[in-house]
Amino acid sequence: MPVEPLRGRVVIDTLNYDPARQGAVPEIEAGDTPPHLLLHEHLRDAYVVKAFSTVFFKHLPQLARPAGAPDRSAVPVAGDHPAAKAAVATLIDSLGFDAYDAGPLAESRRFAPGTPAQLAYLDPDGMFAAPARPASAADLAALLDKAN
Ligand SMILES: NC(=O)c1ccc[n+]([C@@H]2O[C@H](COP(=O)([O-])OP(=O)(O)OC[C@H]3O[C@@H](n4cnc5c(N)ncnc54)[C@H](OP(=O)(O)O)[C@@H]3O)[C@@H](O)[C@H]2O)c1
Repeated sequence: MPVEPLRGRVVIDTLNYDPARQGAVPEIEAGDTPPHLLLHEHLRDAYVVKAFSTVFFKHLPQLARPAGAPDRSAVPVAGDHPAAKAAVATLIDSLGFDAYDAGPLAESRRFAPGTPAQLAYLDPDGMFAAPARPASAADLAALLDKAN
């Protein structure tokens, strides 16, 4: 990913590093940077905000709801820059989701692969093949807490 054009820009980090599903990357395994902070480390002068890493793309249109709908889903967001996080929250709202502030970027570990929050919208019986299940902010808060 190019560094220079992204200097000073808000970058949404959707990346998941999941050795169990995709195979281990030796450089990541040997490095000091936790996988959920790799993009931040690479784009030091961008405003990296972690979001959408927990939502399977086919589930986005299934879960989207107007603001205030009782079954509107929440999407966890983590970032170190309040203004960047607010901009991403506005985008998330416009796409039909509530943004759930999970804290600074380092806290995105709580919705990384292998955590309960990563599975928030999946039906355990059908997983990715099944229709998505809505997850509210309260549902998400409970799942994020399980990773502590
Ligand atoms: N798809 C989803 O529903 C979803 C949901 C949540 C999070 N995510 C996460 O988002 C990330 C992208 O997922 P995706 O579904 O968009 O994957 P994808 O369709 O396989 O796209 C991966 C992209 O990364 C590029 N790439 C792969 N290896 C590279 C390398 N060594 N150097 C430079 N570029 C490289 C590929 O380039 P080429 O096309 O040139 O190969 C491709 O453009 C993943 O970390 C995934 O876990 C995906």
